[in-house]
Amino acid sequence: MADEPTAAAAAAAEADSKPATAALPANEGFEPEIIVFACHYCAYAAADLAGSMRLQYPSNIRMIKLPCTGKLEVIHLLKALEAGADGVYAAGCLEGECHYLKGNLWAKKRVGYVKKLLEEIGVDPGRVEMYNMSSAMGPQFAETAREFTARIRGLGPNPVRPREGFTAHEVVLKQMGDLAMPDDAGSDPTPGS
Ligand code: FES
Repeated sequence: MADEPTAAAAAAAEADSKPATAALPANEGFEPEIIVFACHYCAYAAADLAGSMRLQYPSNIRMIKLPCTGKLEVIHLLKALEAGADGVYAAGCLEGECHYLKGNLWAKKRVGYVKKLLEEIGVDPGRVEMYNMSSAMGPQFAETAREFTARIRGLGPNPVRPREGFTAHEVVLKQMGDLAMPDDAGSDPTPGS
């Protein structure tokens, strides 16, 4: 007498008969983590303004407030990527309006240098960027955040594996130590924080 098929064998046969699930398109469902090094005189204030104007921008943006983007070193940008951030940008005062004269120009150079390094190691340099804005440019802050997030969504996840159990924002804040300024009490413009 032929053996009765076991329940497990029957379930396996049923699974085999179902069509395979279609592969997800690349980057589907990918939500990037983006670190923004923001000068508190301009971009951080512009983010606050965007919040007061109730302008929408993606919650993927995580802010780190600096006294000036001139404080931002090449190592901070690289460490943010190493910590697993999918994209990083510096947002400083308009050229000619830095409170420390050339801080934003130094930041621009450092961002340019990191772009070159990334290119050399085969990572898309578009993962790092420099923007300039004034404190009155709330709508531009929101637009920049939307555009950069869309760009990083298109590039996909950072090829560097993020650290387990930590967000890149947490790791970078710790690494920045006293260089990063505390968020304004009750007015943290980082969405979702
Ligand atoms: Fe804003 Fe220097 S003070 S970039």
